[in-house]
Amino acid sequence: MAEAIYLDGVRDKNVMQLKKLNTFFFPVRYNDKYYADAIASADFSKLAYFSDVCVGSIACRLEKKEGGVMSIYIMTLGVLAPYRRLGIGTKMLKHVLNLSEKQNNISDIYLHVQTNNEDAIAFYKKSGFEIVDTIQNYYENISPPDCYVLRKEVHAKK
Ligand code: ACO
Repeated sequence: MAEAIYLDGVRDKNVMQLKKLNTFFFPVRYNDKYYADAIASADFSKLAYFSDVCVGSIACRLEKKEGGVMSIYIMTLGVLAPYRRLGIGTKMLKHVLNLSEKQNNISDIYLHVQTNNEDAIAFYKKSGFEIVDTIQNYYENISPPDCYVLRKEVHAKK
């Protein structure tokens, strides 16, 4: 089954795929900056294909911190419902983890997740992410409005 799954980059030419997928996953309309950040992150944002059908995406933003250090912020990650629990989400997340470990200036990967999103919390915890904070009223138009911050430290492997 795993051989049928592959990842491709997000470019101007296929960014419409990411837009379409996001309408399925999230009750939020992402702005132009989100898509510009995703494309600017280069290899850190990916579309996932299952037998040549686009079924998932991960969109990251690179955030510069002090001293040339960077964080990777996962803006969105999703897999279409019929294709879940096949390891596609893990494949995308592992790609980002592996890529981060190959650079020596990335300190951590983090994201926000709605506090009631048990599937996503279980998913991230399985890959070693930890809840490091809770932010009340993070979201404006969804209930509950609260989110957790999940983070994983990156240790460079050269
Ligand atoms: N319940 C419990 N554990 C789960 C679940 C679930 N529904 N889904 C995944 N996991 C855990 C399991 O341990 C699983 O391993 P197993 O199948 O061997 O038991 C492991 O995570 C890996 O699962 P994958 O198959 O790699 O994950 P999948 O491809 O199904 O994608 C995802 C997981 C992305 C969370 C998917 O459920 C999804 O798209 N949900 C809707 C969108 C969403 O909520 N995205 C995250 C929001 S936060 C953000 O975007 C930054």
